[in-house]
Amino acid sequence: MLSLLLPMLLAVQALAVLEVQVPELPVVALYGMDTTLNCSFSHASPFNLSDLSVFWQLTDTKRSVHSYWASQDQLADQGERYANRTSLYPSQLGTGNTSLLLRGVRVADEGSYTCFVRVEAHGSAALLLQVAAPYSKPLVTLEPDSNLRPGDKVALTCVAYGGYPEADVLWQDGGGHNLTDNVTTSLVANEEGLFSMRSVLTVTLEPNSTYSCRLTNPLLGEDGHASVTITGQNMVFPPVALWVTVGLAVCLLGLLIALAAVCRRKIKESCEEDRAGTCLSVCLNNCEKDQAGPLNSAVCLNSTALLSF
Ligand SMILES: *[C@@H]1O[C@H](CO)[C@@H](O)[C@H](O)[C@H]1NC(C)=O
Ligand SMILES: *[C@@H]1O[C@H](CO)[C@@H](O)[C@H](O)[C@H]1NC(C)=O
Ligand SMILES: *[C@@H]1O[C@H](CO)[C@@H](O)[C@H](O)[C@H]1NC(C)=O
Ligand SMILES: *[C@@H]1O[C@H](CO)[C@@H](O)[C@H](O)[C@H]1NC(C)=O
Ligand SMILES: *[C@@H]1O[C@H](CO)[C@@H](O)[C@H](O)[C@H]1NC(C)=O
Ligand SMILES: *[C@@H]1O[C@H](CO)[C@@H](O)[C@H](O)[C@H]1NC(C)=O
Ligand SMILES: *[C@@H]1O[C@H](CO)[C@@H](O)[C@H](O)[C@H]1NC(C)=O
Repeated sequence: MLSLLLPMLLAVQALAVLEVQVPELPVVALYGMDTTLNCSFSHASPFNLSDLSVFWQLTDTKRSVHSYWASQDQLADQGERYANRTSLYPSQLGTGNTSLLLRGVRVADEGSYTCFVRVEAHGSAALLLQVAAPYSKPLVTLEPDSNLRPGDKVALTCVAYGGYPEADVLWQDGGGHNLTDNVTTSLVANEEGLFSMRSVLTVTLEPNSTYSCRLTNPLLGEDGHASVTITGQNMVFPPVALWVTVGLAVCLLGLLIALAAVCRRKIKESCEEDRAGTCLSVCLNNCEKDQAGPLNSAVCLNSTALLSF
């Protein structure tokens, strides 16, 4: 009688389902960081670790991410991508914590993972891993960026890079109104799967207007924004370009004044050597008339024009 009951009891036990718990909400992991995929089970009686098996797999392909049985990690069939990047918490296994540590999270790691556990009974549960990377601070540029008049059509370009997943882009005017009509947004993924985002807004320029580009990462809820303001009727340059222009103009002016001074001295010297006295007025006349003459004359002409300016 007993010899018949025992196998039956064992069979019933093997059929028993082990309750395995994983987070219900997707686990959001930061790109490049380490993350823990929680998984735990409760077992009424203390168990012998050598009876525990843990299998972490990709839910879709059943590809092995990390396996453990006979009291040790079993990585012979581990997916290549996960080599050297996974571990369990050995000291926690006895308490029913079969969480997986995944190091250096990549975009390709995103997806569903199944945690399968067996200690006499067995059970499994799946969780979703989402990868997030913050975008760089957005940058807005204007095209064309000079000689603009009210009424001109300009393209405002907002760029940000190195983020994941796809960002939400919101263009607004100075009054906070939503400008979404003429926006084209494109994304390009790099080798690591991170996106470069480029959003172009076409507007008809109005004086004293502000256009801002606001970026939101749907997983991180992170805000980045940049804006460009166009002031005055013909205030056409974005601030940086304006200062560069002013700076260049000042340099050029200084250079011309210096040239003029050198030119004058040179002419004076040569005049004094040759014919003293009435020479200066002759030289100056020369300068004004002889346009196709030697270099000194040409520079002289330019500088007199400038000095009288
Ligand atoms: C993992 O489990 C621990 C302990 O229960 C908890 O503090 C932590 O928030 C969990 N992490 C995730 C991503 O669910
Ligand atoms: C499992 O153990 C690790 C390491 O102590 C801990 O970070 C994690 O939160 C634990 N998970 C659960 C579900 O208890
Ligand atoms: C655990 O199992 C192994 C192998 O079956 C056995 O040698 C060992 O004595 C067991 N340990 C305990 C604490 O039961
Ligand atoms: C994993 O680490 C071992 C030892 O440090 C090394 O020999 C092996 O090349 C590594 N594998 C990968 C895929 O990085
Ligand atoms: C802006 O407008 C677009 C399209 O009309 C809409 O989908 C979006 O929700 C609006 N955003 C805000 C913050 O109003
Ligand atoms: C969008 O572009 C079209 C054609 O360029 C233009 O007629 C229209 O006014 C623009 N809409 C907005 C809101 O700027
Ligand atoms: C633009 O703003 C300036 C100063 O805020 C103001 O003097 C000027 O009248 C404004 N121009 C227009 C067209 O609104």
